[in-house]
Amino acid sequence: MQERINFLVEKLNHYNTQYYQNDSSEISDFEFDKLLEELKKLEDENPQFKLPNSPTLRVGGDITSDFQTVVHRYPMLSLSNTYNETELLEFDERIRKTVDNPVYVCELKFDGVAISLRYENGIFTQGVTRGDGTQGDDVTSNVRTIRDIPLQIKDKNEIPQDFELRGEVYLSKTQFEVLNQEIVEKAKEKGIEEEKIPDLLLKNPRNAASGAVKMKSSKEMAKRKLSCFVYDAYGTPFDSHTSILEHLEKWNFAVSPFHKKAYGIGEVLDFIKEWEEKRFTLPYETDGVVIKINDLDQREELGFTSKSPRWAIAYKYKAQEAQSKLKSVVFQVGRTGAVTPVANLTAVQLSGTTVKRATLHNEGEIKRLDLHEGDTVFVEKSGEIIPKVTRVVTELREKGAKPIVFIENCPECQTKLVRQEGEAAYYCPNENGCPPQILAKIQHFIHRKAMNIEGIGSKTVELFLKEKLIKDLADLYELDKDKILALPNFKEKSVENIFKGVKESKKQPFKYVLFALGIRHVGASIAEILADEFSSIDNLQKATEEEIANVFGIGQRIAQSIKAYFDEPKNIEIIERLKKAGLQFEQAEKKAVITDGILSGKTFVVSGTFQNFEREELKEKIKTLGGKISSSVSKKLDFLLAGDKAGSSKIEKAEKAGVAVISESDFLKMI
Ligand code: IVH
Repeated sequence: MQERINFLVEKLNHYNTQYYQNDSSEISDFEFDKLLEELKKLEDENPQFKLPNSPTLRVGGDITSDFQTVVHRYPMLSLSNTYNETELLEFDERIRKTVDNPVYVCELKFDGVAISLRYENGIFTQGVTRGDGTQGDDVTSNVRTIRDIPLQIKDKNEIPQDFELRGEVYLSKTQFEVLNQEIVEKAKEKGIEEEKIPDLLLKNPRNAASGAVKMKSSKEMAKRKLSCFVYDAYGTPFDSHTSILEHLEKWNFAVSPFHKKAYGIGEVLDFIKEWEEKRFTLPYETDGVVIKINDLDQREELGFTSKSPRWAIAYKYKAQEAQSKLKSVVFQVGRTGAVTPVANLTAVQLSGTTVKRATLHNEGEIKRLDLHEGDTVFVEKSGEIIPKVTRVVTELREKGAKPIVFIENCPECQTKLVRQEGEAAYYCPNENGCPPQILAKIQHFIHRKAMNIEGIGSKTVELFLKEKLIKDLADLYELDKDKILALPNFKEKSVENIFKGVKESKKQPFKYVLFALGIRHVGASIAEILADEFSSIDNLQKATEEEIANVFGIGQRIAQSIKAYFDEPKNIEIIERLKKAGLQFEQAEKKAVITDGILSGKTFVVSGTFQNFEREELKEKIKTLGGKISSSVSKKLDFLLAGDKAGSSKIEKAEKAGVAVISESDFLKMI
């Protein structure tokens, strides 16, 4: 039995390596699956014989459990970043104070999630996330599903007994597209409206990879088909980075072929230039170049700061820029009436996509740019952010071109625009009579994170408004079935879904209802704070501006906006009708105010993503321990709990205000 298992493991691992690393298949998929099935059966019947490098581990399992925290034997530091040549030259100067004629290795900086891989006696035994750099999560069963990572290293004579590798788990661009396509198809099968599908999609390959690594089911993780490049080793006998990479390649790890030795900083700059554009042709995303000292003894001599090694630096490419020409400026009216100027441009290629429109933000920005009709402009795009116009080439401006002026009246309903003191944006104040505001308000109302009315999508709202089936939010609860059935494309089944969705939405808790109303400046977290504090719409309506502003995390601007909302008779009428329809305008249970919890009297802002908790979960935890949550950083705050990718402006603001910035592990220690 053991022999047959050994044989099958050996064979299947060999086929896997051939297939995934050498692009060749020696047997058909069918034969492979049959052997794998046989192995799985034998292992299930004889678990004592299951080998740690069994290919059945690649398939993943259903078991969901919490990840164990593992303290890194070698801390997972980060790299100091730079965006400019001067700082690179300074880096080189610092290096040359310790090392004569440094030899660097340039590598691409892969945009994924860092992973630590442990091998004992040639067998992969542990995969751990970066966490806070000192400790991370044990995600071994998830990592086993990544085909680029060998479960066993063959070259037994040469391999160290116990060592660790570092690498980047990533999702290829193609696989990212495939997964999103699958999400679209599944959503359509389930009858989810098309307009709601974008919310369900994976945002970008990096998010998708970091989400996958932390999945509770390795079977699900396996479906994402992640990849992994390795780029570092600890506890190996090699004396240079290039020697490490050569050995890793020999041991069947995926090593990016695009690394290069650079003799001096000049060659480093050449490498950076070479890849600035070329990187977009790669099948995975990269956001810069990592420059490392090749010699490991020299690395030791150079040492580390508390955060990063002194022997390496990351050069990050600037957001891509392109030149285009202004065709026109249009003014868009948003849900809250804010008017945003948008530039229509002649089409231009930018970071692999075609750009035809770019935001101009507000009047101040148009003035800053000194934008004129027909101007030649530069547009910039970084990550998933909407492109923006960054500057104008005034030398190319045609004589007599007129400056772009901000409009005075709403382009949709001609109401005179207003601007509140201290705000950059102009608003159309006709919130209950301006068509795009009404449309956007209702679209916001039905949204998944608001009333979550399944069965009605944005397009349906548009149609209902056009056909005069609805005029405001409350009309959604007074729909006429026959009128909907009279519209083309509405069958009994879809109408049933609409009514079911509307009925279900009445169960949404008060904080969602408050958010759904679309009061200016009342986002989801502010709505939550208000719901906790006032526990009903009546209490909130009765509260004075001062009382509202005094609630922690609210402030004058929001309080004013809430009062203005209740001053509008049409809003009161809508609330009354929604009350009659049965929506939750009271907090189901008033949260007991905990006065003796270990976090009592402490206020937190929570930003970023976390290893052990969802952000909302963390907020709940803080509240149950007596702490308070705020949405913005101010002097009154006690802690900014910052996870991965926490807002850098929030961190800066906290540091300036003398607010303690703590990590997830600091927080865990605290509680
Ligand atoms: S070397 C001491 N090489 O960038 C850290 N990192 O900010 C040594 N990364 O956490 C890291 N590509 O997730 C290195 N070729 C590469 C990389 C790379 C991407 C990531 C990695 C690390 C982060 C550093």
